[in-house]
Amino acid sequence: MGEVKTLGQFIIEKQADFPYAKGELSRLLRDIGIAAKMVNREVNKAGLMDILGQAGSTNIQGESQQKLDIFANEQFIKALTSGGECCIVASEENEEIITINAPVAQNAKYIVAIDPLDGSSNIDVNVAVGSIFSIYRKIDINAPATITDVCQPGTQQVAAGYIVYGSSTMLVYTTGKGVNGFTLDPSIGESCLSHPNMTVPADGQIYSVNEGNYVHFPKGVKQYIKYCQVEDSSTNRPYTSRYIGSMVADLHRNLIKGGIFIYPVTANAPKGKLRLVYECNPMAFIIEQAGGKATDGFNRIMEIEVTELHQRSPIFIGSKNMVEMAERFMRDAGVLSFADAEPLLSAG
Ligand code: AHG
Ligand code: MN
Ligand code: MN
Repeated sequence: MGEVKTLGQFIIEKQADFPYAKGELSRLLRDIGIAAKMVNREVNKAGLMDILGQAGSTNIQGESQQKLDIFANEQFIKALTSGGECCIVASEENEEIITINAPVAQNAKYIVAIDPLDGSSNIDVNVAVGSIFSIYRKIDINAPATITDVCQPGTQQVAAGYIVYGSSTMLVYTTGKGVNGFTLDPSIGESCLSHPNMTVPADGQIYSVNEGNYVHFPKGVKQYIKYCQVEDSSTNRPYTSRYIGSMVADLHRNLIKGGIFIYPVTANAPKGKLRLVYECNPMAFIIEQAGGKATDGFNRIMEIEVTELHQRSPIFIGSKNMVEMAERFMRDAGVLSFADAEPLLSAG
């Protein structure tokens, strides 16, 4: 067996790459790793505990919260609060930002945006779920952090990552110097480097989209899906359709195997469904760092102006050439920008 490198060892080894004070981001990543292990523990024994099902509450987006959504949210907030490096947590499950006033966090410089549990509709049926995090640095280190610090464009992320609680649990993250993946070894309770320097193939043969919404998709997406289904040996089509319904799990598979994930605007979700700050931007950072591409069909996800915490965006993300082909279909559908796409929603 080769040398085993734990997540903790790896983070410290890579500290030299960080542009700012060295230990702080390392500690923050460590805190996130700890919260992820707590969530993993609960996800793994979910069937045994009274933790399945709905909590009876709804979050800001009007979605019913699962008990595990709430548990995961609490774990991340707790770890980030006591860690001392985070001044604001922004979460899918909280309407407003959470400002951390603990004495230990007096000099904290980092903002963390989280989707504590992604794919919650899959929990009760034992299908892979995930967590997503995105880290920003305060714009003015000497001023108190505000919502403006949270609403920075994705290009300003200093780190981002996800945890996929699947057949094994993996943490994948980037600090802007490539993407590395760590698999949790439950026997020692440590995540070990298993996927160094992850890259997404430029071409893939998997398309992931909720085709049940086909009738509500813009024309360009409909035509791209048809393109994926046409037989053509020179491009290995028809492609394979795979859709789990947990963005983290769908993107993790496509990162490894190559593929495209699309959640477009639909007639029911005219701005898209997925959230820019804690779903699209962190995944875009990771996929770009792995050599892939992430756009809203027209523009780079990480350059979209962020005006509110729970802002939604359509997303086309994955293998570079596949995303560019889908973008071509969007353009050829006769629209110049995402805003122009809306009249086409009901078109044939
Ligand atoms: P969350 O569980 O954090 O609300 O996210 C669910 C998201 C995402 O994980 C997934 O890709 C998408 O919703 C699935 O939506 P549809 O059921 O509309 O396909
Ligand atoms: Mn989610
Ligand atoms: Mn969620």
